[in-house]
Amino acid sequence: MILELTLAILCFVLGLSLFAFVPLIFGAPFEPSRKKVLKQILDLANVKKGKRIVDLGSGDGRIVIAFAKKGTLAVGYEINPWLVLYSRRQIKKQGLKNRAKIYWRSFWNISLKDFDVVVTFQIGYIMNRLQKKLKKELKKGARVISHQWRFKNWKISEQKGKVRLYVK
Ligand SMILES: C[S@@+](CC[C@H](N)C(=O)[O-])C[C@H]1O[C@@H](n2cnc3c(N)ncnc32)[C@H](O)[C@@H]1O
Repeated sequence: MILELTLAILCFVLGLSLFAFVPLIFGAPFEPSRKKVLKQILDLANVKKGKRIVDLGSGDGRIVIAFAKKGTLAVGYEINPWLVLYSRRQIKKQGLKNRAKIYWRSFWNISLKDFDVVVTFQIGYIMNRLQKKLKKELKKGARVISHQWRFKNWKISEQKGKVRLYVK
C-alpha cells in the first residue's frame, strides 16, 4: 500500500516536472506576465472589438482572458497540458467561452495567417525562427507584440518598458 502510494506520488511529480521542462525544447518555460506588462501589451495592441488575437505559449491564459474581455476573439496555444486545463477552467469561470479558446498544441504547427495581433513572451534562442514564421505567414498590417525578447532586423514601431510592438 505504501509502495503504491509512493509510486503514484512519484509519477505525479515526474509528470508535473516533465511538462515544466519539455517547453524548453520548443520555447520558453512558464513565467506569467505581470499586471503592469499586461497593461502595456493591451495598450500597444490597441485592438478593436471582433479582431483576432493569438498568444503563442498562453501559460495560465491571462493574456487571452484580458483580450477576450476587451471584446476580441482571443486564442492561445500552449504545450503544457496542466496550464491548458487551468486556463480553460478560468475562461469557463469568467463566462468567456464564446470569445476565448485555448488549444493544447505547439505554436510551431499552426498557421498565423488569420490573426490581427500576435503576442509572444518566449525565449532568445527561438526568436530568429519565430521572426521567419511571422514574416512568412502574417497578413500585412498585423501587429506583433513581444515581451522581453526582441526580433533582429525588424524595426520596433513602439515600445513600453520591455514590451515591443512590430508591424508587418
Ligand atoms: C514565459 S511563458 C508566457 C505565458 C503567457 N504568455 C504570459 O505572458 O503570461 C511561455 C509559455 O510558452 C509555453 N510554450 C513554450 N513553447 C511552446 C510551444 N512550442 N507551443 C506552445 N506553447 C509553448 C510554455 O509552456 C509557457 O507556458
